[in-house]
Amino acid sequence: MRIDIITVLPRLLDSPFSHSILKRAQDKGLVEVVVHDLRPYSTNKHKSVDDYAYGGGAGMVLQIEPIVRCIEELQAQRSYDELIYMSPDGETLNQGIANELSLKKNLLILCGHYKGVDERVRQHFITREISIGDYVLSGGELAAAVLSDSIIRLLPGVLNDETSALSDSFQDGLLAPPVYSRPADFRGWKVPEVLLSGHEGRIEDWRHQQAVARTQQRRPDLLQDGSSSAEAGN
Ligand code: ADE
Repeated sequence: MRIDIITVLPRLLDSPFSHSILKRAQDKGLVEVVVHDLRPYSTNKHKSVDDYAYGGGAGMVLQIEPIVRCIEELQAQRSYDELIYMSPDGETLNQGIANELSLKKNLLILCGHYKGVDERVRQHFITREISIGDYVLSGGELAAAVLSDSIIRLLPGVLNDETSALSDSFQDGLLAPPVYSRPADFRGWKVPEVLLSGHEGRIEDWRHQQAVARTQQRRPDLLQDGSSSAEAGN
């Protein structure tokens, strides 16, 4: 998979992709993440990429010309499955969207800034708008990092334990069950006996019960649509 990200603040994306799982995924050649600075695509000598909004009002708008120059240069090199604009107006990111996008080959992500991008970019280029929640960030960069992380960790071979992404919260419509590690007794706070039993079937049942109970308690909305495996008793 390849992910291209267009931004006015490329440095903001240095760190998220330079550590741990996201770095390893790139080192192993499982994903290529390329961050593009919008500024060199400016059409003026000051290399500015924003301008005042027509009709007045506070805040600057990312101009259409540099964005289109950048997008079209990238499109000349490969075709993209989705052109995503990070925006609080978009559909809210969830595990289903991450799963779906993890099956794509080439993704292009545009990060908004200031008051956003010229509406014509959204109308004529963007195929999908994604929000990471009902709050407003200073720009789309951190949201793009969140989206990319949620996708990249699902790519085959990225996680050491292949089953690990499958047992994530949300993958089966449930929150994840509690986990414990050594010591088995810390200040008298004991790890549940069943986990020490070595009995795989009982451990699986216990984990499922815990996942259902936790979901009922914290996110009953997830059980509402009847599609989770909780009701099926899997
Ligand atoms: N840009 C600003 N706020 C955002 C949000 N909540 N999600 C995605 N992109 C954004």
